Amino acid sequence: MSQRAKFVLNDHQLPTVWANILPSLPEPMAPPLHPGTHQPLSPADLQPIFPMSLIEQEFSPQPEIDIPGEIIDVYRLWRPTPLYRALRLEQELQTPAHIYYKYEGTSPAGSHKPNTAVAQAYYNKAAGIRRLATETGAGQWGSALALACRMFGLDCTVYMVKISYQQKPYRRSMMNTWGAQVYASPSELTQSGRAVLADHPDSPGSLGIAISEAVEDAATHDDTNYSLGSVLNHVLLHQTVIGQECKLQMADAGEYPDVVIGCFGGGSNFGGIALPYALDKLKGQAVRLVAVEPTACPTLTKGLFAYDFGDTAKLTPLILMYTLGHGFVPAGIHAGGLRYHGAAPLASHMLKLGLIEARAYRQNAVFDAAVAFARCEAIIPAPESAHAVRAAIDEALAAREEGQPRVILFNLSGHGHFDMGAYDSYFAGKLVDYEHPEDEIARAMEELPQI
Ligand SMILES: Cc1ncc(COP(=O)(O)O)c(C=O)c1O
Repeated sequence: MSQRAKFVLNDHQLPTVWANILPSLPEPMAPPLHPGTHQPLSPADLQPIFPMSLIEQEFSPQPEIDIPGEIIDVYRLWRPTPLYRALRLEQELQTPAHIYYKYEGTSPAGSHKPNTAVAQAYYNKAAGIRRLATETGAGQWGSALALACRMFGLDCTVYMVKISYQQKPYRRSMMNTWGAQVYASPSELTQSGRAVLADHPDSPGSLGIAISEAVEDAATHDDTNYSLGSVLNHVLLHQTVIGQECKLQMADAGEYPDVVIGCFGGGSNFGGIALPYALDKLKGQAVRLVAVEPTACPTLTKGLFAYDFGDTAKLTPLILMYTLGHGFVPAGIHAGGLRYHGAAPLASHMLKLGLIEARAYRQNAVFDAAVAFARCEAIIPAPESAHAVRAAIDEALAAREEGQPRVILFNLSGHGHFDMGAYDSYFAGKLVDYEHPEDEIARAMEELPQI
């Protein structure tokens, strides 16, 4: 019999809890601080933009949090997602390694993002909120929230980073189809509605700027809350359905990973696959957890570990994280979802404690891997996810060098069907390999708040 390449779960194996690592951490995380007083934040400080249920999850001491039935009903539209063994890629690489990937691109929006979007829409609806405002980089998060708001009857406003708005017009169409209102960011309110920012008409935008716009929108409207697609503890928490399913599927395959890999923008898909394994690691299990980012925005590998704002306009709380500075506008690489100056404080804390590793790649090397993967495994990865593919291939090549077996598991966080312009640029030899500018760290240090 040929080897199994696909590991699927039944509906009843869908996780019924989210796995919370906070109470198991060897050292507690530093608290977020109020941006004005620099005092630890109280739950009430977050109430103008988040419902209390999500604020409680942000700081929860419970090791497991029940997933409400209404959320499971929506998850069931595409979850559990499949786990594949990349047999053809293994053969192509002539590696003794076994390569597995969890495919989150089967969600209606095409990525892992709906795992938290659905939860956030549900809790906001339950709290009596009418509309959610958010930012989106690559358009994946905006699509996910547009879909989730539709499922629970909420309005949705999305501030889309301008370079992605231009590169991916069909992402906007998708959000419009689910009923969301989409603006290119940076924008400003004029008498005739939202328009391109007159002072910076050519700015490509950044996630930091778009977050400022969405937070301001939520803070100035009573019936509107803000929703963030990554970075925060509760977002990573909701994503742990990914890693929990992987554990069941890897057990079905009769293997346990030596290394678990996820691409890293704010940290949500990496956290989603890695946190359930990190819980095993804290109990003595040998497993490496690798976060992969672009050299154009190397937050974990070159950033400062410091309190910083999550957005450009300094509206958010101060969080202790790896950061390239809240004013950093990353180069317009095609992995738009990885263009964020900060990192999840939970992932930052775990990196500091040595629980996870990080590495960075240039975009041409990333697309080399994406195309090699697509030609063996058929799925066309999102440029963000292709960072994880690159790292998985490099792990498999290292195993070949050593002549040793290695079990590699990575998160294929989304498909690239709306990113074919990026593939075209790659094939035309037009992708620029941006590096983080040397003098940026000094500039970032200067702008860090004095705590
Ligand atoms: C497909 C895909 N993967 C990964 C990311 C990065 O986000 P995070 O680090 O929160 O998973 C994004 C962000 O938009 C994305 O669209």
